[in-house]
Amino acid sequence: MAVLFATGILITAAEFEEFVETPVFWIKLALVGLLVVNGALLTRKEEILPERTEAPLKNNGEWARVRRHALFSVTLWIATAAAGIVLSYLA
Ligand code: HEM
Repeated sequence: MAVLFATGILITAAEFEEFVETPVFWIKLALVGLLVVNGALLTRKEEILPERTEAPLKNNGEWARVRRHALFSVTLWIATAAAGIVLSYLA
């Protein structure tokens, strides 16, 4: 993640005026922001997960929440990469 941030900031700095005027750039930064927040929530949820659980996972509230955050994370990664590819064609 740190490498993606560093390279993203460097690429942006190289053609700053052009990227900041491209709405896709701001959509992408919003997706990256969501990715970070969701990642932090996912990590925190995982820390409080019971080591062992008897109830089927999908009915277990805590596991169901972790699963939702995990699915959201995968979706955000794909959306962020797609926004980046679109951005590379636009700018
Ligand atoms: C989770 C983090 C990120 C992922 C997965 C990601 C992914 C990508 C991908 C797949 C591309 C297309 C590369 C290409 O086709 O050449 C791209 C391009 C780009 N990304 Fe990111 N990126 C991330 C974070 C960032 C951040 C934080 C910034 C800015 C602060 C950024 C700015 C850009 C820019 C400006 C381009 C267009 C580059 C060009 O014109 O070729 N990215 N990104």
